[in-house]
Amino acid sequence: MNRPPFPVRGELTYRLQAGTLGDAEFDALYPSEVAAISSKFWTPIEVAMRAAELLGGADGRKILDIGAGVGKFCLVGAAGVGGTYVGIEQRPRLVQIAREAAQTLKLRSVEFREGDLSSVDLREFDGIYLFNPFEENVRGPKDHIDETVPLSIDRYLEDVAATEALLEQAAPGTHVAIYHGFGGRRPADYVKVVEERWRYGRLELWKKQQ
Ligand SMILES: C[S@@+](CC[C@H](N)C(=O)[O-])C[C@H]1O[C@@H](n2cnc3c(N)ncnc32)[C@H](O)[C@@H]1O
Repeated sequence: MNRPPFPVRGELTYRLQAGTLGDAEFDALYPSEVAAISSKFWTPIEVAMRAAELLGGADGRKILDIGAGVGKFCLVGAAGVGGTYVGIEQRPRLVQIAREAAQTLKLRSVEFREGDLSSVDLREFDGIYLFNPFEENVRGPKDHIDETVPLSIDRYLEDVAATEALLEQAAPGTHVAIYHGFGGRRPADYVKVVEERWRYGRLELWKKQQ
């Protein structure tokens, strides 16, 4: 019998929850050029599981991934932990790939939207995830996903400032999980409730005070 190159949904969920699914197996869901850059640009499974848990996915919370790429954080969170996920992503091709992966996995609690920070309204969400989305702007071409969007230091500064402003507007009680930072500061009305070391990066959980 021919088997798909990645685990089917039930098996995937089971193995995510059991901690036995490897990143390469999950990444086989994606076109090869996107799977090949996974270790640099997409959240590793173990970190995505932990971040989704910290953000309360298991309690059914609604979580936004700002800069969702091919949707790996949202898909792993939805399948492995639970909750509702929205990923916003500036590159249309990545949004398309993320939507196709969600269809393949038959995940209905995940939505991918094409857009940038100007289209974000945090009042819709209980939790926010950030995996260093803006760093490409301050890197050379070999550290770019592609050249289909404008990347510059000015844009980096604008996006970091816009994210800080969005966090300030979020509702009290909002949780924010950050892997590898986002370039900005923690607003004064957030407290850091978790800080953990994962692989080569730091995972933090901030909570907006009531
Ligand atoms: C490091 S990847 C993280 C992908 C995903 N969050 C994950 O963890 O698997 C950052 C993504 O953010 C996107 N991005 C960067 N700046 C953005 C912006 N201003 N608006 C929307 N997406 C953005 C990039 O296109 C890239 O796909």
